[in-house]
Amino acid sequence: MALDAERIVTNVLKVAALPAVAIKFSEAIKNPLTSNQDLEKIVSEDSALAAKVLMISNSALFNFPSKIDTISKAITIIGHKQLSEIILSCSIVAMFKDIPQNVIDMDMFWRHSIAVATAARILAAARREQNIEKYFTSGLLHDIGKLIIFVEAPKYALEIITRCAETNELMHKVEKTVLGFDHAKLGAMLLKKWKLPDEVVSSVFYHHMPSVSSGDIVSPGIIHIADIISHSLEFGSSGEKFVPTLNEKAWSALDLDVDILSSVIEQLNVQHSEAVKFILG
Ligand SMILES: [Fe+2]
Ligand SMILES: [Fe+2]
Repeated sequence: MALDAERIVTNVLKVAALPAVAIKFSEAIKNPLTSNQDLEKIVSEDSALAAKVLMISNSALFNFPSKIDTISKAITIIGHKQLSEIILSCSIVAMFKDIPQNVIDMDMFWRHSIAVATAARILAAARREQNIEKYFTSGLLHDIGKLIIFVEAPKYALEIITRCAETNELMHKVEKTVLGFDHAKLGAMLLKKWKLPDEVVSSVFYHHMPSVSSGDIVSPGIIHIADIISHSLEFGSSGEKFVPTLNEKAWSALDLDVDILSSVIEQLNVQHSEAVKFILG
C-alpha cells in the first residue's frame, strides 16, 4: 500500500502531542495581562523543566553576575519569548528521544538542528529582523520530518539511506522518489497541526527550495543558508552526506554582505555549544 503523508502525520499526532506546558506558556505570553508570577506557576508545574530553567539562567549564555535561585528571577533574565522557545525546544527534543541509535544518531541529529537554529537566529539578527526567536524554532525543527519517517516508516527510511549511499543524491530528492513526498513536507504538516506560526511552517516546508515559495522568500531563505553553513562546518549530522546546493536567489534575497559570514561563524561557534548544553542537557 502506498504511503500517505496525511495518515503518517495523523499517526504521529497520536503519540506526539505537544506537551501542555509548552502550549500553556506560549499562549500565556501572548496575553499582555500575564504576570511573571503566572508564568512561574506554569513552569513550576514541571519540576524537571523548572530545574532546567534555573540551570539555563545561570549559564554562560546570560552571564548574570549573581546566582539566579528563583524561577521568577530566571524568567526576568531569560525573557518571555526566549524562554518560550527554550521550553518548546526541550519538549520536542524529549519527545523523539526513543528512536534507536542504530537508525539515526539522535545526538548528532539535534546538534545539526541546533546549529541551523543558532545560525538562523544570527542571520536574522544581522538582517535586523523582528521576533528572531521564530527563526530559532524554524531552524531547530527544519528536519523534523526525517524523524517522522524514521518513526512511522522505518523500512522506507532504510531504503532511502541505502539509495542515497548508492546514488550520491540528496535525501529530500530520494524521499520524493521513494515516498512521493519529502521530509520538508511532512515536517511542515506536523508543525501546522501543532499550530506553530505560519511563518515557521512555511520556512520548514521551503527550506530546500526557498525560491519556489510564492510568499516570503527571506524566512525560508534564512533557514536554507543556515542549513548550508551548518553542513559545511559539520556541526552534527542529519544523515545527509553532502552539503545542500546553494539557492542563489535565496542568498540574494537576504541582501547580506558575504563578509558577514566570518562573524556569523564566529558567533555560531560560541552560541552552538551553549545551546547544545541547555537543550540536550
Ligand atoms: Fe532538510
Ligand atoms: Fe538540515
